[in-house]
Amino acid sequence: MSQRQLKLGANLSGVGNSISFWRHPDVPINASVSLKFYQEQARIAEAGKFDLLFIADGLFINEKSNPHFLNRFEPLTLLSALAASTGHVGLVATLSTSYSEPFTVARQFASIDQLSGGRAGWNVVTSPLEGSALNFGKGEHPNHALRYEIAEEHLEIVRGLWDSWEDDAFVGDKAAGVFFDPSKMHALNHKGTHFSVQGPLNVARSQQGHPVVFQAGSSESGKDLAAKSADAIYTAHETFDEARAFYADVKARAETYGRKPEELLIFPGIGPIVGRTEEEAERKYREITELVAIEQALNYLGRYFEHFDFSQFPLDEPFPEIGELGSNSFRSGTDKIKREAKAKGLTLRQVALQASTPRSAFIGTPEKVANLIQQWFEGGAADGFNVRTVVPNGLADFVDLVVPILQERGLFRTEYESDTLRGNLGLPIPRNRYAPGAETAASIKDNASIEDGARVGATADHE
Ligand SMILES: Cc1cc2nc3c(=O)[nH]c(=O)nc-3n(C[C@H](O)[C@H](O)[C@H](O)COP(=O)(O)O)c2cc1C
Repeated sequence: MSQRQLKLGANLSGVGNSISFWRHPDVPINASVSLKFYQEQARIAEAGKFDLLFIADGLFINEKSNPHFLNRFEPLTLLSALAASTGHVGLVATLSTSYSEPFTVARQFASIDQLSGGRAGWNVVTSPLEGSALNFGKGEHPNHALRYEIAEEHLEIVRGLWDSWEDDAFVGDKAAGVFFDPSKMHALNHKGTHFSVQGPLNVARSQQGHPVVFQAGSSESGKDLAAKSADAIYTAHETFDEARAFYADVKARAETYGRKPEELLIFPGIGPIVGRTEEEAERKYREITELVAIEQALNYLGRYFEHFDFSQFPLDEPFPEIGELGSNSFRSGTDKIKREAKAKGLTLRQVALQASTPRSAFIGTPEKVANLIQQWFEGGAADGFNVRTVVPNGLADFVDLVVPILQERGLFRTEYESDTLRGNLGLPIPRNRYAPGAETAASIKDNASIEDGARVGATADHE
C-alpha cells in the first residue's frame, strides 16, 4: 500500500443529525439512549474499517432543542461502554474547555485511552451556547475570544498532565519492593491565567502516548488553536473550493508553528445519502425533508443564533438583518449562514430548511459519492471525512456501497494497520516532554508501526 490513505470517522448521533430524523419509521425512537443502537453502529463502522467513532455534544437545552439533544448519553460514558465492545476503531468524545477542569479531562481521557488500548480521542470545543453558563454556576458565558484563550491554556495543561509519567516509570519490582521510579514521575506545577494545576496525573500514558486531539471550531481563533496544538480538525464545508481554501489555510498555519502539514489532519463533515440509483438517493432525501415542519426548522436555525426567535419574521421575504447576532456562539457557522443568505438572496424559509435538512453535494449513486470523496481527498480539500448519518441506515449504506469502491481504488484500507488510533491515522506518538533524549522504550516499540503509517500518509502518490 503506497498511496496516501483516506481516513474515515463515523459521527454517531442516535435519533438525530437532522431535526426530523426521529420521525422516520425506520429510526428507533430510543436510539439516543440505546447502548444496543450505538453498539450496532460501532460494529458497522468497524466492519467498514473506519478510523474512529465521533460523538458530538452540547451543555444546554430548552424546549426548542433538537430531539437528540434532549435525551442522550454523555460522550465519554458512552465511549467507555463501546471500548469494551470494539477492538480497533478509535473513540473520540467531545468535551468543552469552557466548562471543565483540565485535571478531570486529562484523567478521563487517559483512562479511556488505557481502557481501549490506545484508541481514545478528545474533540476540543469551547461551547457556543450562552445558556451553558446557567448549568455550571457561572455568572456569564465567556465571550468567543476568551473561550479560545481558556481553551489554549486548558489544552496545554491537559497535554502536560498526560506526560506525568514516563513510559517506564512503573517498575513493578516485587522482589525489590519498587513499585515506581520517582525520578520518572513529574508534577506540572502550572499556575496560569485561568487554571492552577499541580499534578502529577494519577494515570499513566497509553501505548499511543496522548489521546488524539481533535478541535472543532473554524473561526480564525479556532483555526489557530488547531494549527498550534491539535492533531486533527473537524470542520464543515459545502463546496470543494471552500474546503480546499480552508485546508490550505490551516496547513499553512500549522507550518508557521513549526509543524509538518501531515501532523494536522483535516476532516470535513459530510452527510452522504447513497442510493443504488440517483432516484433512490433523491427519494431518501425527500423522505426526510417532508417530515420537517417549518416551526421546527426555525427553532433549529435559532439555536445557532443564541436561541433567537426567527418566527417573528415573514418566511418568504429575504433573510432578516440581524447584525452581530450569532458571532458570540457558533461564529464560523453563523457568519457563513448570514453571508450566503445575502449573496444568494435566500428567504428565511429557505435558510431554515437548508440548515435543518442540508442537501449536501454527497448525494447520489455510490460511484458519484466515491468520486467526490476522491476529488476532495486528492485535490487538497480533506485528509479524511467525518461521516454523519442523515438518513436511516446511512452508515450501513456507506459501508456497504461506498467503502468497497474506495478500497478498490486503493484509497482506503482493507485491514487496520495498527492497534492504536494514532497508528491508524498515521500520527506520530508525542514524545514525553520529560523523557531524556529521544523516545522512551514503549514509544520506540510502537513507533515502528506508526512510522509505516506515517510514511503511507506522506508519500506523493455541530453540532
Ligand atoms: C464542525 C464543527 C463542529 C462542532 N461541534 C461542536 C460540538 O459537538 N459541541 C460543541 O459544544 N460545539 C461544537 N462546535 C462549536 C465550537 O466548538 C465553538 O464553540 C463555536 O463554533 C465557535 O467557534 P468557531 O467560531 O471557531 O467555529 C463545533 C463547531 C464546528 C465548526
